[in-house]
Amino acid sequence: MASSYSNSIGLSDAQVAAVRAPLANAALLPASVYNDPEVFKLERERIFGRTWMPVCHISQLRESGDYVQRDLVGESVLAIRDRSGDIRVMSNVCRHRNMALTTGSGQCKGRIMCPYHGWTYGLDGRLLAAPFMDQTADFNRSEISLPQFRHEIWHGFVFVNFDDNAIPLSEELAEFEPWIGPYRFEDMEIFEMRRATMPWNWKISLENFSEAYHQPWVHTHTAEQGFPAALAEYWDTNSNYSIFTLRREDSGVLETFTPAVEGLSDKHMRHVSVFNVYPYLHALVDPGTPLVLDFNIKNENEHELVWSVLMPKGSRENPEIADHVKAFEGFIVPVLHEDIDICTGVGRGVNSRFTAQGRLSHMEKSLHQFHNWWLDKMLADDLAIAAE
Ligand code: FES
Ligand SMILES: [Fe+2]
Repeated sequence: MASSYSNSIGLSDAQVAAVRAPLANAALLPASVYNDPEVFKLERERIFGRTWMPVCHISQLRESGDYVQRDLVGESVLAIRDRSGDIRVMSNVCRHRNMALTTGSGQCKGRIMCPYHGWTYGLDGRLLAAPFMDQTADFNRSEISLPQFRHEIWHGFVFVNFDDNAIPLSEELAEFEPWIGPYRFEDMEIFEMRRATMPWNWKISLENFSEAYHQPWVHTHTAEQGFPAALAEYWDTNSNYSIFTLRREDSGVLETFTPAVEGLSDKHMRHVSVFNVYPYLHALVDPGTPLVLDFNIKNENEHELVWSVLMPKGSRENPEIADHVKAFEGFIVPVLHEDIDICTGVGRGVNSRFTAQGRLSHMEKSLHQFHNWWLDKMLADDLAIAAE
């Protein structure tokens, strides 16, 4: 990286200062952070190696042996319910020759057998059997197990963190709890609607979903009709999340596709909450039918987006659920297509040689928050070295 840059992410002091300024004076992150492979390499280490990332929802791990496998920015992990009913998150990489133990999701019936040479692990990750290893010197099966990762369940979402020193997620989200807790995502079941690959940087998608500023132009005949962008309220936050709320012109109680969650406050009943838990859990939540967006990030220019909806517990057994999901899809999918078209354009634009650090509207407070969080994470090592 050029020596004229003052930090490891290739930004000048002036560029960083522009993002660090108070919102009214601030500028956006430079375009290079959306396409530079060196920046992505550092994101893998400084963001995805140290922050809380969603793996799945507990409704996907109902019985002992139920598992979900995810590639979290190149690290293959397995979330599983073990024999004692506890949830574990561990490496999905065989301790023999690094074969992927599982893919997708399913039920592994009491043990995890590697498809390559049959090494077999218990649901707690301990190696139970290793065929034809009896002539191997100093091979002690009982000393081998799959690496276990720190995890936390936040309102039904299983999060993992590869950093043993990370602040607990519940602590990071403590100030968010009074508003988000009553939605009780932990009492719901998750249904995947669709997934698609996006050929641009993950931050472009996250940022697009973080503000309502674009609604009048992008969602003119969809979202803007019911929930005018001018009524959006962006919260002050100072942690790993951002949120804005939307309401109808008349601030009325909202109609939902499934019955509203019991016990919500009057304010909850009249608002939609649109929030991110960084780096990439996104949700759009009305009083009854939360939409969740999850990311499978491949590299600086590609991620897969996964759209799911949360429905009341027991929905899987409800014959009407397919109709509910379909009705919700009918409402939300056109909005998502409008967003994808826009992100396609931004994905091209960040590759121009003639970009500048754009200025922000007050309706992009959430981007200002995200960019400052991103700088906190990306520059922490630089600051630590400078302080030595
Ligand atoms: S790689 Fe798993 S048993 Fe050989
Ligand atoms: Fe949008």
